[in-house]
Amino acid sequence: MLEKVNKLVEKVNRFTPNSEEELNNFRIEYLGKKGLLNGLFSAFKEVPSDQKKDFGAAINNLKVLVQNKIEDYKDGFETEETEESIDLSRPVALDNLGSRHPISIIRNEIVEIFNRIGFTISEGPEIEDDWHNFSALNLPKEHPARDMQDTFFIQTNPDVLLRTHTSSVQVRYMNENKPPIRTLSPGRVYRNEAVSARAHCIFHQVEGLYIDENVSFADLKQCLLYFAKEMFGEKTKIRLRPSYFPFTEPSAEVDVSCNICSEKGCNVCKNTGYLEILGCGMVDPNVLENCGIDSKKYSGFAFGMGIERIAMLKYGVNDLRLFFENDVRFLKQFKKSI
Ligand code: DAH
Repeated sequence: MLEKVNKLVEKVNRFTPNSEEELNNFRIEYLGKKGLLNGLFSAFKEVPSDQKKDFGAAINNLKVLVQNKIEDYKDGFETEETEESIDLSRPVALDNLGSRHPISIIRNEIVEIFNRIGFTISEGPEIEDDWHNFSALNLPKEHPARDMQDTFFIQTNPDVLLRTHTSSVQVRYMNENKPPIRTLSPGRVYRNEAVSARAHCIFHQVEGLYIDENVSFADLKQCLLYFAKEMFGEKTKIRLRPSYFPFTEPSAEVDVSCNICSEKGCNVCKNTGYLEILGCGMVDPNVLENCGIDSKKYSGFAFGMGIERIAMLKYGVNDLRLFFENDVRFLKQFKKSI
């Protein structure tokens, strides 16, 4: 019996498969249900007990030998990919796909939400002049509110600057379009601020503008409530606090209910139950007139929000700098399933 096993060992050692088929036949011959090894294992019962130890070791050894042989050759027969054999309809390996940047995801989401109620996109330049960024928006030179927006000037010309907010696009849009106006202006803005977990010198905003006859503050509120529910969930509530912006009158800051603690108070909402998301108001008649729109006939509202801020709230990110570092370990968490 032992001799038979030894012969098989020699045979297995000599065996070199020339094709996948040969290797497969070899596997069936030895490891198949009715294969040689199963035969030997059944024969084991009849072996006299003093030989059992040697015989057992020998068949185990044979089995390992067969398995190793299969393992050694199994990758060797993969058919080479020729032009004809490549299946171009085969899906790609999804785990190697990149992901959209979270700021782009949120920007697109905001745009989609307002698209659904008729807002279309408009854009303006990042290098602006004083008129579009400040003066037309009711911020004449020496206006103290200019200090709130630490401005980067281009070279030494005080008239050319990097826009500090996307409200500049309002001015351009009103100059070029007649009411009714419903537009959304996403874009990058710049402020001369120290970089920290809560502030950056470059960030993103979305500006909204709605101008028509008889637009009221109630329309503004309803529009923002719709946005908050779409963005943060059906149960979201909004709260408007009186505020001041030179280009709107009256002005308000809008908070959404904190859905982390359901308004009970937590460290994200600093125990207030609410989180600030944007500034808004009724467009100041001066601004309408500056942009060639008859303020007796038309009224409207405007709002502006920081995309990073919305993304931080939505994703629970507590350091704004993460959005700019482009660390793939951070970015790949925003991979959406396709
Ligand atoms: N431009 C403001 C800012 O950068 C945001 C803002 C507030 C925009 C009120 C508006 C508005 O259109 O009505 O802080």
